Formats: sequence, structure tokens, C-alpha cells
Amino acid sequence: MSIAEVIDIVSKAGELVLSKVESGFSIYHKGTIDLVTDADKASEEYITTELSKRFPGITILGEEEGWSGSQDAEYMWLIDPLDGTTNFAHGNPHYCISVALAKAGQSVLGVVYDPVAKEMFSAEAGGGAFLNGNRIRVSQNDKLQSSLFVTGFPYDAATRKANVAIFGRIMQASQGVRVMGSAALDLCYVACGRVEAYWERSINAWDIAAGSLMVSEAGGQVSNYLGHELNLFKGEILASNGLVHSQLMTLI
Ligand code: IPD
Ligand code: CA
Ligand code: CA
Repeated sequence: MSIAEVIDIVSKAGELVLSKVESGFSIYHKGTIDLVTDADKASEEYITTELSKRFPGITILGEEEGWSGSQDAEYMWLIDPLDGTTNFAHGNPHYCISVALAKAGQSVLGVVYDPVAKEMFSAEAGGGAFLNGNRIRVSQNDKLQSSLFVTGFPYDAATRKANVAIFGRIMQASQGVRVMGSAALDLCYVACGRVEAYWERSINAWDIAAGSLMVSEAGGQVSNYLGHELNLFKGEILASNGLVHSQLMTLI
């Protein structure tokens, strides 16, 4: 399996998503505030078709189509065909396509592409993380006061409310907290040092599988809120440059 092939698929999915901006697209509701568009659906169909053609027999979990293959399989693809759908639907140019390969629950390959900024993030376990082919590393800032953070608010009301309190505490202690609306890109921004950390709860495996590998391969730390090992399917992540991790845990 070569990461170049996955990069090629994800890059073409990015162009497909951009073409929907030109051609127009329909928006549907999955929940009260949770949206899906024609672009999400077309991107997922393209990615799953190409992955199954090039790497047959591997289980796939896609946000829109769910499982295909055994959920107990050793290897599986985790696909978010359009992360940042709310931004996309509102015409805000901050979204991406995220594809990861997990082995026994751990990400071993991750590709995240921002088709507007033309930024391709990629990582393989043990091989480092890259932005458009150049090695990236987390920031070296260990002071909360000069750190910039990013978080996300999922679609369920209770978790949103709980995160407002955490948001307030970290906002007071830091240089600022951003809410940019794409978990996969949030993680890539930690990996390349644009922000010091990202946290979110009620998050799905397809949102964080590729980005969390990006952070650890860029020298950062990923865990749950208590500092324990990240479980992609448990819906809770704190990802940082490592230097502010424990300080953040006390505020979260
Ligand atoms: C969402 C985004 C958002 C995060 C939500 C996710 P979607 O994914 O990543 O930043 O806060 O929890 O569900 O719906 O745009 O694919
Ligand atoms: Ca997502
Ligand atoms: Ca999505």
C-alpha cells in the first residue's frame, strides 16, 4: 500500500468537492443542526469506490455510508468525505477531506486535504508528518498565556454546553481560542505549529483518525481528557504540542 495512491485519491476528492461550489449543491438535514450536502455524498462515493478498487477487501467506515465489511477487521479505512460541512454549506472556505487507515484501532496512515488552501497533510506511523511534502513539527511553546488553541462544538446540545465552560476557562488563561469548524484541520494545525492544542468531546473516529496521527508524527501528544491513551471510538480527544498538555488537562 503506498501513501501516494491515497494522496492521489484524496486530492481528486478535493477537486470534486470544489466543483460542487461551482455547480451548486443541495443541503439536507441529518439532525436539527447537522447538515449533509451533495458534495459530502459524492466525495464519499468517489473515495470508497477508488479505495475498494485499489486495495480490495479492507473494511471501510465512512461518515455518510457507515460500515462496509467486518467491524472486527484488523485493518479499516476511516473516511470523512467532507469535514467542515457547516462551513461548506455557508460558503466559508475552511473544510477538508480526511482519510485514515487504522490497524487494530490505531491509525497507521493519514491524509487530510484542504482543497481551497491546496494544503495536503500526510503521515505514516513512524515516518513523520508532512505538509505538501515538507516535514512539519508541533510548536515549542510551553506557556498557556502565549498559546493559541482551537476546539470544536459537536452537534449535541449537552456536550456543547459543557464545552462552553471549558472554553471560558481556557480563553481566560491563553492568548485565544478559535472555533474553526473542521476537526481534521484543527489537528493538522496542531501538527504544523499554528496552534498549540485542540480538544473536543462527542467526536467521531472519522473526524480524528488521520489528524491525530499527524499530531503524534509531528512530535505532539494525543490522549483523552484524562491523559490516557486515545481511543478513536470513544469520542474524546486532547491533542497538543506535548508541552502544554498537562496544564490543559487541569483546565478541562
Ligand atoms: C464536524 C467538524 C466540527 C466538529 C464537529 C464535527 P462535519 O464534522 O469537524 O469542527 O466540531 O464535531 O462533527 O460534520 O463537518 O464532518
Ligand atoms: Ca467531520
Ligand atoms: Ca463530514
